[in-house]
Amino acid sequence: MSARIINGQEVAQQIRHEIRQEAERLKSAYGISPGLVTIIVGNNPASVSYVTGKQKTAKDLGFYSVQEDCPEDIQEEKLLALIDRYNRDPKIHGILVQLPLPGHINETKVLYAIDPDKDVDGFHPVNLGRLMIGEALFYPCTPYGIQQLLIRSNIEIDGSEVVVVGRSNIVGKPVAMMLCQKAKGANATVTICHTGTKDLSYHTRRADILIVAAGRPKAITADMVKEGAVVIDVGVNRIGVTQEGKARLCGDVDFDAVKEKASAITPVPGGVGPMTITMLMLNTLNAAKRSLKLS
Ligand code: GUN
Repeated sequence: MSARIINGQEVAQQIRHEIRQEAERLKSAYGISPGLVTIIVGNNPASVSYVTGKQKTAKDLGFYSVQEDCPEDIQEEKLLALIDRYNRDPKIHGILVQLPLPGHINETKVLYAIDPDKDVDGFHPVNLGRLMIGEALFYPCTPYGIQQLLIRSNIEIDGSEVVVVGRSNIVGKPVAMMLCQKAKGANATVTICHTGTKDLSYHTRRADILIVAAGRPKAITADMVKEGAVVIDVGVNRIGVTQEGKARLCGDVDFDAVKEKASAITPVPGGVGPMTITMLMLNTLNAAKRSLKLS
């Protein structure tokens, strides 16, 4: 059996179409455009590429978008002051500080500084706490994208065995927390595996849905996957450059071998990646709607 390839680009486009329509409605009914500021410190190539993609998508959707490029050696107080300026700017509904930050800046302090109502990344401890109790304002974008990809691909989550490989605050922990909520598109039995897990294959082979955010190419091989499982590959590993000079990417899953065993699988690129940016736009749209205090 060869797996169905889950096309993240297609699902993302469908959601972007819905976002564009809703943004146009907001504009004509209330005269506001969703506003997003992306803040980048330094010029790490991966971060520059992510932020460029976010800005381009925001503009394509007709959002008001601002990019702030800060020097690598910016003082922490200056960065905090910049965030505070946008916290108070009524045209801006979403603030995103691209991570990782240089070592001299306290990442936690920066994430705390963002107004939780404008935290479209969903990384503020208030929002992560709200997510845990099923009262989220914003879901972190990659976990939200994974959940939407599963739902819109008609994959049954309710009652399934989900195994997450990786325990980052950005992907592993929040996606696990989202999928175990008693809610639609969730209600799964979730296991989190990490570098301290003694027998990784024992767990991954039990998964109906295997979500891999390990940060290691080919961390998951075919023998680690159950026949018919759904495999979501969150890995973005840069393994050289293409003929066009773009970064050559591969995921955390041995795609060619695992696709012969899985029932559905996401490719890299073209799987989870396009969904992450799209969910950022959805969070920004929703932040703009919340700012109207309609209900
Ligand atoms: N670095 C890697 N992924 C992300 C993300 O989703 N948001 C931010 N702000 N930084 C990141």
